[in-house]
Amino acid sequence: MSLDGTTKRVARRRLLQYLAASPLLASGALPAFAESIMRAEDLPADKMWLQATGEVIASAKEAVNVFEFEAVARAKLPPAHWGFLTSGIGGEETLHANRAGYGHFHLRPRRLVDVSRPDTTTTLFGETYGSPIVVAPVGSQLVFHPQSETETARGAKAGDHLQILSTQTNSDPEAVIAARGRPLWFQLYASDSAELAAARVRRAEAAGFSVLVVTVDLVGQRRLERKDILRRSDKRNCGMCHGGATIEDKVRFLPLYRDFDLSGMTNPVDPAMTWESLKRLRDVTKMPIVIKGLMTPEDATLAVEYGFDGLIVSNHGGRADEAGLATIDALPDIVAAVGGRVPVLMDSGIRRGSDVVKALCLGATAVCVGRPYIWGLTAFGSQGVESVLKLLQAETLAMMQQVGAPTMSDLSPAMVARR
Ligand SMILES: Cc1cc2nc3c(=O)[nH]c(=O)nc-3n(C[C@H](O)[C@H](O)[C@H](O)COP(=O)(O)O)c2cc1C
Repeated sequence: MSLDGTTKRVARRRLLQYLAASPLLASGALPAFAESIMRAEDLPADKMWLQATGEVIASAKEAVNVFEFEAVARAKLPPAHWGFLTSGIGGEETLHANRAGYGHFHLRPRRLVDVSRPDTTTTLFGETYGSPIVVAPVGSQLVFHPQSETETARGAKAGDHLQILSTQTNSDPEAVIAARGRPLWFQLYASDSAELAAARVRRAEAAGFSVLVVTVDLVGQRRLERKDILRRSDKRNCGMCHGGATIEDKVRFLPLYRDFDLSGMTNPVDPAMTWESLKRLRDVTKMPIVIKGLMTPEDATLAVEYGFDGLIVSNHGGRADEAGLATIDALPDIVAAVGGRVPVLMDSGIRRGSDVVKALCLGATAVCVGRPYIWGLTAFGSQGVESVLKLLQAETLAMMQQVGAPTMSDLSPAMVARR
């Protein structure tokens, strides 16, 4: 009997997935065997034999790590949309620093701890989730899937992940909450109209969102140099999303713009925003308020002093500044400044369970993931989102066992060190 190419590929992946989950791998004999069944071109030069290359997966179940979804997404998206997703700003120093930053730390594995039942239960503002991995707010998901944020919610529900919904959502907020089956957090871009910002927050609270996240890192000029964003390669009518002469016309198709009076808005973000102006949101909502986009201990201290309830260490996945400072490098000083007074989440560049565990050991309460679940959404819809989150969760559990931490509270700064 001869196997065709697809059958062989699926069979090889099934075996790899089985081997990846097997404690027998530790024996040392199986890696050599597994390597021998992979084609030579599957093996990158650095011998990371579990990372297949040159081959695009045909279903979410085949993936062995999140990068496999990236390849599918890249093949599916037109260049301009791929550019929108992947770009940073300027020379992309911060984008690259974010990934490189995880390499500045190594974990310190401890042995002979009972890790037979690792537990990633995470509590945020009294709500318990199955995982510390949070779905970051990513706007305009219609670019990636016809069901946009609602489809993401179906994927996030499977592993009980917290999801944060962007102001720039294409799906109706109420539909996303219904698909997720429990309250989400609502992310606000405070436009230069205070009335509009307040109206949106009231709508979010009435819809059932439980926490308000205010993004403060996009305020001024962002120099976009990536030319693929401007490259039009298909003949679709792009007018619905890209048409319009005025700022109002440009955003009208989004539910959180369509449903509101936009007359006072001249800018969808507010370059004049200060701690004092932000403080006024307190009078608008009873929801806890989390500030997203802080990168220094000084600002973290101010966030706590101004009475905000939490913060997200973030540079918008390298899209907000060209400072070249990685979030993982910024995290330890920020955690020290906050001193446990409010939860500190972080994001940007997380692609592996080891990245998650390093952040948690350095004091993050939870981490948010952006582009990887969008790769999954683009590739295979909710199944792709579910699989990306499942892979990151499985890698996180494995890392917790390797460092000897059965629960989230066992992950400590002593388990991580700078190289
Ligand atoms: C295409 C794209 C759109 C985004 N849209 C938003 C948004 O609407 N609001 C927001 O607060 N952050 C937004 N972000 C930033 C993410 O919330 C998150 O900070 C970032 O993606 C994390 O980095 P990562 O993609 O490397 O995981 C966006 C990121 C991307 C890639």
